[in-house]
Amino acid sequence: MAVDDWLAGTLLMRQSQLESYIGRVLVFCHRHSMKTSSRIVESGYTPTAKLLHWVVAALMIAQFTIAWFMPHIGRDTKPDTIINLHFSLGILILAIVVVRLGWRWTHSEPAPLGIPPWQVRSARVVHAMLYLLLLIIPLLGWMNASWRGFDVTVFGLFRLPRLMATRASGFGWTGDVHIVLSWYVMLTFVGLHVAAALYHALVRRDHVLARMLPGG
Ligand code: HEM
Ligand code: HEM
Repeated sequence: MAVDDWLAGTLLMRQSQLESYIGRVLVFCHRHSMKTSSRIVESGYTPTAKLLHWVVAALMIAQFTIAWFMPHIGRDTKPDTIINLHFSLGILILAIVVVRLGWRWTHSEPAPLGIPPWQVRSARVVHAMLYLLLLIIPLLGWMNASWRGFDVTVFGLFRLPRLMATRASGFGWTGDVHIVLSWYVMLTFVGLHVAAALYHALVRRDHVLARMLPGG
């Protein structure tokens, strides 16, 4: 009898604890969804989002042009002016993308413009891949520069720390992956992205490209 009472009391306590837990989780979810939905109400890209988008796009064009003209980097290469410029520009892109992701975190994407759901979903996948590559590619470049024993001096202003010891075993692949992700994966996604923007502007003649332009 005493055991039954004790058991019933404990279960009752557990149940009320559980209820209060669930209550707290529900309140958290509700508050969070209120916060998220207030982020989604944006009707277009803010001037800051547009500026960051076009600055990164311009820097990427410059970066690929430099990469094209850069001498092949081998064991005896000295990180001279053009290679250093590649490092500096890459680090600048990385820094801007970190700021941009912070902006994106607090300002959600504007509401879709009545386009088919599959297009909304594929645009989200492509944008997420672009952001991911914009982070991974410069980080791998920085790792490979460290692995090669190069100093990464950003526009001659300050030197970044080395991410690993020179020729650290097991990290030689960083250069190859950096190159493949840049020439093949990044350019494929940028190609898809630009083709989609042109399709919207020229074929569907909707507002998708216009809202990323100044005044749009
Ligand atoms: C978004 C930024 C970046 C892009 C798109 C990019 C792109 C490229 C491309 C296309 C190449 C190949 C060049 C060739 O074909 O010879 C390359 C090589 C290289 N990049 Fe970058 N890069 C970026 C950022 C960086 C950064 C930040 C660093 C270092 C701090 C860096 C270091 C290197 C190194 C060391 C190589 C030679 C790799 C090797 O030959 O093994 N890159 N990069
Ligand atoms: C001529 C070149 C480009 C054009 C015409 C273009 C066009 C656009 C347009 C119209 C949007 C908005 C899409 C929407 O409203 O759903 C957009 C978003 C975006 N673009 Fe581009 N873009 C170009 C180059 C680039 C490049 C080089 C990158 C990066 C490598 C890039 C990364 C992004 C990302 C990450 C977004 C998503 C923005 C967000 O919602 O956070 N774009 N672009």
